[in-house]
Amino acid sequence: MFLKILGSAAGGGFPQWNCNCPMCSGVREGSINARVRTQSSIAVSSDRTDWVLFNASPDILTQIQQCGVLQPSRQLRDTGIQSIVLMDAQIDHTTGLLMLREHKQPLSIWCTAAVREDLSEGNPLFKVLSHYAGIDWQELSTDHADCQIPGAPGVTFTPLPLISNAPPYSPHRDQPVKGDTIGMLMNDSATQKSLFYAPGLGEMEPHVWQAMQKADVVLVDGTMWTDDEMIQRGASAKTARSMGHLPQSGPGGMLEWLDKLPTSTRKILIHINNTNPILDEDSEQRVVLDRHGVEVAYDGLEIEI
Ligand code: MLT
Ligand code: MN
Ligand code: ZN
Repeated sequence: MFLKILGSAAGGGFPQWNCNCPMCSGVREGSINARVRTQSSIAVSSDRTDWVLFNASPDILTQIQQCGVLQPSRQLRDTGIQSIVLMDAQIDHTTGLLMLREHKQPLSIWCTAAVREDLSEGNPLFKVLSHYAGIDWQELSTDHADCQIPGAPGVTFTPLPLISNAPPYSPHRDQPVKGDTIGMLMNDSATQKSLFYAPGLGEMEPHVWQAMQKADVVLVDGTMWTDDEMIQRGASAKTARSMGHLPQSGPGGMLEWLDKLPTSTRKILIHINNTNPILDEDSEQRVVLDRHGVEVAYDGLEIEI
């Protein structure tokens, strides 16, 4: 199985267009050692020709341009993207669907009933798209049921319900329901290796922890280093936890959990918010991550699993 990181930043990207926090202005001016990053998306393949896209970010056109294999050019109108999985209904994971409206067939979109509802009512992207390519909705169950998804033959996908938060336009905002956010365990039958992916993870429930322990690579929520990071920077009144993201540092934080995984597990953070100091490769927080054997995803990173 091949994993390609298309976008490693959280909503807003890095730098965020209107932000002058030390990280955003630092990367803009070149005064910190950091890479620019587009918004949260990955692609998975078993042959590097056909792909399953996870999340359609507002930066999708740039991401497709920068990832040559997503455009195999076999006919006049073509794409390597066979299916699209949505991990939640947030803006940073769904707005790019509008950019795919020229698709010749209805877009094959795999998501939970809760996400479909938000994208039909609160933010009716699916209704808008029905006037263009249309949607071929495939329901992802939240009952730990395995499925096969076109674009990655030989990979078994197991969606897992996660506790995070629903988008601000959802009727479930601050009262999330099962299926608002999922994680995905992916097992490759050829290599018998597996990947666990969860860009929005607010709480470590037992079934999530079990899935992470099974995985050879965990690619998980790296949104914020500290819970009150945006408040400290004066950027927003929201905490990481209120937005449904487990911070990395502190008691019960992501680092404590990752520490309990075997050293052989590859541990990678993704969906990094632009306020997060780990974006600076020379930061003290980056030294801590190195010491814990934790990597930070960057756009263009490809891993064979
Ligand atoms: C999130 O992951 O919490 C959202 O993407 C935040 C946002 O859209 O600004
Ligand atoms: Mn997000
Ligand atoms: Zn910023």
